[in-house]
Amino acid sequence: MNRRALLTSLALAPVIGGCRRMAVAGTPPPDLPPLRTITPGAFGTCVQVANLSDPAWLDLARTHVSQLTPEWEMKMEYILADGLGRPRLDRADRIAAFAHDNGMALHGHTLIWYAQGQEAFAGLDNAAFDRAFDGYIATVAGRYRGKVRSWDVVNEPILDDGSGLRDCHWSRRYGQDGYILRAFEKARIADPDAVLFLNEYNLEGIPAKGNQFLRLVERLLRAGCPLQGLGTQSHLWIDIPDGQIAAFIHELSQFGLPIHVSELDVSLRTGDRPDLRGQQERLVRQTARVTELAEAYSGLPPAQQFAFTTWGLRDTDSWFRRDDKDDGKDRPLPFDAFGQPNPMARALAAAFRA
Ligand code: G3I
Repeated sequence: MNRRALLTSLALAPVIGGCRRMAVAGTPPPDLPPLRTITPGAFGTCVQVANLSDPAWLDLARTHVSQLTPEWEMKMEYILADGLGRPRLDRADRIAAFAHDNGMALHGHTLIWYAQGQEAFAGLDNAAFDRAFDGYIATVAGRYRGKVRSWDVVNEPILDDGSGLRDCHWSRRYGQDGYILRAFEKARIADPDAVLFLNEYNLEGIPAKGNQFLRLVERLLRAGCPLQGLGTQSHLWIDIPDGQIAAFIHELSQFGLPIHVSELDVSLRTGDRPDLRGQQERLVRQTARVTELAEAYSGLPPAQQFAFTTWGLRDTDSWFRRDDKDDGKDRPLPFDAFGQPNPMARALAAAFRA
């Protein structure tokens, strides 16, 4: 069967199979093996505490998932919500305990991010800022030492257009490379065993951003930064030109470091203009992008296949389904609202089993 025919069959299978079967909890369809058993490295997904009381989510996660990334409750927005002096670690603790009790690895996300921490760090003089920055990493990374496999030490340092690095409260104190170097050095001290990642999005879809990321990695490694893993979030869009995703993964692999596809989802929404293509046609494009990414990841040397993580399991778990643009029809994730495989799940299985 040629590639186009395969992709079309993957996208149309659910329709040909008739209306969606109601989920029978915990029983993967016979044509879909548990993804954790066929994904090189680990198959991950994001999690929030609310998922842990959802029996359908628990069944799906226990069937398919071998690694978890806290979606938001291990970030400053939750931990520092009551201020620097009163870190809230209860929910990250619950997630860490669930991962341990269920034999799943835990990927810490994220210590230092331009998007968070402004309020808690506002008004501090330099000495207090340094104590707070270093202390936060020591407290959080130290607490989960032995519980996390890895950390996104720094998240999203690069400008959306790839023209340079973001200015933020961290860079204004330590410089654009400086805050990243400091964060990794403090994380290394706090947890000498965790694999330390730099994590970024749109690297496959915006070549200038991908190139800026590669240049940053080169600079950090040359400066002796204990950078040990590279996270490409892969929030893909269906119209990324053929071959562009695979080309970037190949470039990313040049450093010989473990690669984490860290937040895969592929929305069927294509910006603000009306998309005249039907959902099935857009699903074919989505399936092509996912197949290209999964095949590129599968082609990496085993030592560089860290994990392949989707940013949610069911379409209804997706952040895309929580924003005001949601029309209730987006299918960005491997499974539908009932836990049944979308074309994405079948594309992943086909690529990983190939
Ligand atoms: O669950 C609470 C709810 O009880 C409360 O009423 C409501 C209003 O305060 O907040 C809800 O929590 C929200 C949470 O998502 C769950 O929906 C948080 O406010 C909101 O900030 C949080 O957003 C997360 C966002 O990162 C910011 O942390 C998204 O879930 C999460 O998907 C998104 O993930 C990011 C990655 O970390 C980095 N890469 C991009 C990715 C998508 O933006």
